[in-house]
Amino acid sequence: MKALILCGGMGSRLWPVTLSIQKQLIPIANKPILFYIIDSLVEANIVDIGILSNQKEEIFNRALSFYEKREKIKYTYIDQDKPIGLANAVVSARGFIGDEKFIMILGDNIYQFSLKKFLDKFNSEKVNCSILLKEVENPSQFGVADVLNGKIVDLVEKPKNPPTNLAITGIYAFDSNIFKACENIKPSWRGEYEITDAIKWLLDNNYSVTYDILEGEWKDLGGPEDILKENMNKLIDIENNVSGEIISTNITGKIVLGKDSKIINSIIRGPVSIGDGVMIQNSYIGPYTSLGNNVSISNCQIENSIILDESNISNIDSIIDSSIVEKGSVIKKSTQLRKVNSFLLAKNSLVIVD
Ligand code: TTP
Repeated sequence: MKALILCGGMGSRLWPVTLSIQKQLIPIANKPILFYIIDSLVEANIVDIGILSNQKEEIFNRALSFYEKREKIKYTYIDQDKPIGLANAVVSARGFIGDEKFIMILGDNIYQFSLKKFLDKFNSEKVNCSILLKEVENPSQFGVADVLNGKIVDLVEKPKNPPTNLAITGIYAFDSNIFKACENIKPSWRGEYEITDAIKWLLDNNYSVTYDILEGEWKDLGGPEDILKENMNKLIDIENNVSGEIISTNITGKIVLGKDSKIINSIIRGPVSIGDGVMIQNSYIGPYTSLGNNVSISNCQIENSIILDESNISNIDSIIDSSIVEKGSVIKKSTQLRKVNSFLLAKNSLVIVD
């Protein structure tokens, strides 16, 4: 069976970070979101994987070259011209999928669930489509499925009066009838070719649509809070693994410290994950912080944040908290006599100063 991971989209809730890095490649506990999904596919013995995006293939090639199980997967890059909806993404992947059954996963979903169980059920039921649903407390905020006798009878987007508490996750299994469905629908009010409309087309045309319930954790990572919360969840589970050097430093809690990294005269309160070639001096790194490779931190206090590769943060008096800092950023204290803040920011930046 083939898998299609959707990594297109605008990622607008994460601007400006996603103007330079695809949302699906943002590291959570120093591992890109996409790799958690690929891991779950490899675990279910699905290794023929298509990655669809509106970005350059090169970006994904470079990222995948760091994926430790790369040799296990057969990877195909699929280009979606423009991010105009999930049903359009499916049509763009027709050449890769052919006439086979396939699993489709939204590249910004994180879950703890055996895909094998879901796919075994889909294959044994001989249905045309199966959707993974999750029981939620606030169904009005999701796409919701109405079900009867183990089958789906309707899908409703963010209903005021939800028919069930079963939210549609980003994990679907299809046979090739989905292509016909995706080609027969019109764009929605927001101008996108919606996958829910394509599945409704299947229902309206008497194809069978069933479901399975996702029992474990499931997160749809849309905005900065979702990313930081998931970073925290993943860091809670890390194991101690220290390769770098620690000098005159007080450490409590769990820590991952990559090779050629150095911590001098600092305080570390885990769980924290620190990449390779990082230098930390005279600083406090607090819980739920991930520092990428070749980051440099001096005279700072940082907690609950994700700092991407090659960033340099120095001499900041107040605590840096709940922040996502994209690759190569510099945050430093002003050296002017006047008390000033100077910014060089990109579209939709957010700065909160003390
Ligand atoms: P969304 O969360 O709907 O959109 P987005 O990721 O662009 O974020 P935002 O709303 O903040 O702008 O997308 C869900 C997933 O589907 C995500 O992994 C991106 C992917 N996607 C595509 O691959 N192609 C598309 O045309 C769209 C709309 C999304």
